[in-house]
Amino acid sequence: MRAAWYEKNGPAAEVLRVGEMPVPEPGAGEVRVRVISSGLNPTDVKSRAGSRPMGYPRVVPHQDGAGVIDKVGQGVPASRVGERVWLYIVQWQRAWGTAAEFTVVPARLAVRLPANTTFAEGACLGIPAVTAHRCLFADGPIDGQTVLVTGGAGAVGHYAVQLAKWAGATVIATVSSDEKAALAVAAGADHTVNYKIGDTAAQILECTGGAGVDRIVDVDFGANLPVSARVLKTNGAIASYASTGAPEPALPFYALMAKNVTMRPVLIYTMPDRAKDDATRDIIGLVEAGRLMHVIGARFPLDRIVEAHQAQESGKVTGNIVVDVGGLK
Ligand SMILES: NC(=O)c1ccc[n+]([C@@H]2O[C@H](COP(=O)([O-])OP(=O)(O)OC[C@H]3O[C@@H](n4cnc5c(N)ncnc54)[C@H](OP(=O)(O)O)[C@@H]3O)[C@@H](O)[C@H]2O)c1
Repeated sequence: MRAAWYEKNGPAAEVLRVGEMPVPEPGAGEVRVRVISSGLNPTDVKSRAGSRPMGYPRVVPHQDGAGVIDKVGQGVPASRVGERVWLYIVQWQRAWGTAAEFTVVPARLAVRLPANTTFAEGACLGIPAVTAHRCLFADGPIDGQTVLVTGGAGAVGHYAVQLAKWAGATVIATVSSDEKAALAVAAGADHTVNYKIGDTAAQILECTGGAGVDRIVDVDFGANLPVSARVLKTNGAIASYASTGAPEPALPFYALMAKNVTMRPVLIYTMPDRAKDDATRDIIGLVEAGRLMHVIGARFPLDRIVEAHQAQESGKVTGNIVVDVGGLK
């Protein structure tokens, strides 16, 4: 089978290879998936570059994807053969990602993909949608609340806007351009604020009539903290899934304490299994109802995986990057 892999960490062009590998066999509790689309996330390029030790002599990259189950391992019902599935976090602490014509994954990470959704769209869901769900619901229902989604046109942010609207919240999204504002509005945002221009906190507060927001789904905890501390209501919560701008920020502890703020760092890999299952259940329901839109910002064939990684690293692609592996749409 065709597959991409790396055997040491480093820049994409230096370490990524595409070639032939034996088709893997599913072990107990695993399914084998004929991969049609592989979903690329920032975590994949960071891992390849060396943010985590290799762990295995050879790694087939990419945590997310979509395809069709073609074989099951011991303990998995044979009825799953032929099922269309989307895959998430399948390469976490494993050597088998989705950048290959076949992969083997734990059965519970292969989630039913409704027929109304293409494999390329299914490959977008994984990490972005599940992370968004966790950030929104880890601290209870959001019906009737006001949720600020920072980076509302990002892969996670765009799903967060949609999931928050579905759950009955008023949504304010921060963006950096008119084009990104349009994407956030299309996803359901009630208000958008360009966080690059003017007093961001004042603009967010204005959207709420001065009341502030109940929840923040945050793409950069450290960089956004001064704004978050100003706009969050008493007893509000900040669920952050990255802190790239300031990995070890100084905390205005007493200002946050005065508001009884909940700070919730979120990492998809280690979030509770029950929360993962809640997320996939809700996401399937929304997909099936045709209520989730997906933004594919760029597509590359498997042979051009190096360019796909470089595009992810450039930060210039708005939306998900999909690598086409199999022949189906
Ligand atoms: N903890 C987890 O489990 C988890 C899960 C998924 C992703 N992540 C991490 O989260 C980050 C984003 O992932 P992604 O896939 O959503 O990336 P993405 O598609 O590139 O989206 C990031 C978005 O955030 C915006 N942005 C950047 N800095 C911002 C700021 N200070 N305030 C508001 N918006 C800002 C970017 O646009 P502009 O620069 O134009 O504003 C972009 O739209 C990555 O570092 C990724 O590794 C973590």
